[in-house]
Amino acid sequence: MDKKKRIALITSGGDASGMNAAIRTITRYAIFKGIEVYGFYEGYKGLINNSFTVLDSNSVGGIIDRGGTFLYSARSERFKCREGQKEAIDNLNKNGIDALIVIGGDGSFRGALELHRQGIQVIGIPATIDNDIPHTDYSIGFDTALNVIIDLISKIRDTASSHDRIFVIEVMGRNSGLIAVNTGVACGADYVLIPELDVDLIKISGQIKNNRAGKRHTLVIVAEGAAKASDVASSIRMLVGREVRISVLGHIQRGGSPSALDRVLAAQFGEKSVDLIIEGKRGLMVGINAMKISTSKFEDVISGQKEINRELYDLAHILSL
Ligand code: ADP
Ligand code: F6P
Repeated sequence: MDKKKRIALITSGGDASGMNAAIRTITRYAIFKGIEVYGFYEGYKGLINNSFTVLDSNSVGGIIDRGGTFLYSARSERFKCREGQKEAIDNLNKNGIDALIVIGGDGSFRGALELHRQGIQVIGIPATIDNDIPHTDYSIGFDTALNVIIDLISKIRDTASSHDRIFVIEVMGRNSGLIAVNTGVACGADYVLIPELDVDLIKISGQIKNNRAGKRHTLVIVAEGAAKASDVASSIRMLVGREVRISVLGHIQRGGSPSALDRVLAAQFGEKSVDLIIEGKRGLMVGINAMKISTSKFEDVISGQKEINRELYDLAHILSL
């Protein structure tokens, strides 16, 4: 009898809500298609350490609504060098693995490209709360993070309005202002500071001084890649001459049960990744563009740059006037 096709699966880099839903889809859909699934723990680190579990339909039960990743994630410096990659490839071969699915961010896809170049059939699924991966409108985890942040900022707004206070709120986004811009619009923030655009704190402070009568809160959202909330707050405090409160939302933004959108994305991306493997495709990332599931080469993904939506950024500021 022919050996069944066998795929490996990892979650890598910063975790994102919906990774579990993707693991569940890949496992159940692959089994439905007659394929065996090996889940390696802690991303590339698990490939190097040969740490895995064989997944079946039961083992991925009860995880669709859980944040984080039950296969765990890690950042592996060793995998960045050839020796680490060779150890990972040896383990894939030793276990008779035919293809690998990598669920992660752009760093993870740099690693995936290395494996692809060394002959491994690899498919990628974008998952990062930053949503900074080009060639896909959405990455798994972004929508959930936005919903978590909106809930948190609404609470800050309650207390800010009660006390007529200025708040500087730092959100995640290492190199990208996408979280900040989207939450800025969704939360009715007054100013959004992002790494992609220069900031004029003197101008902003002048505007805060001249806030329209009746406005009882000022919310300034700062992407972590743009500035530290404490530095922005010090400048505004000095320039406006009023007390400024700070809130750094931190890793709360990365947790929580995935939103409907992230669960559906995880299902669509998972299904497509298995189909691509069956078709013999390789070196591709699955994505969604204009509501259609798409594919892009790893080379294009890692050399590209995700633009922020300038119109949305401007709208956030217009709506706060
Ligand atoms: P993310 O995937 O969320 O962007 P990282 O940037 O931390 O997270 O990348 C996850 C892992 O991918 C790294 O720990 C490393 O093992 C692997 N990786 C990142 N960049 C490279 C690279 N240039 N070559 C090989 N592997 C890489
Ligand atoms: O890439 C996602 C992200 O959440 C970034 O927004 C943040 O800068 C980074 O990961 C923090 O990662 P960690 O705390 O896991 O090192």
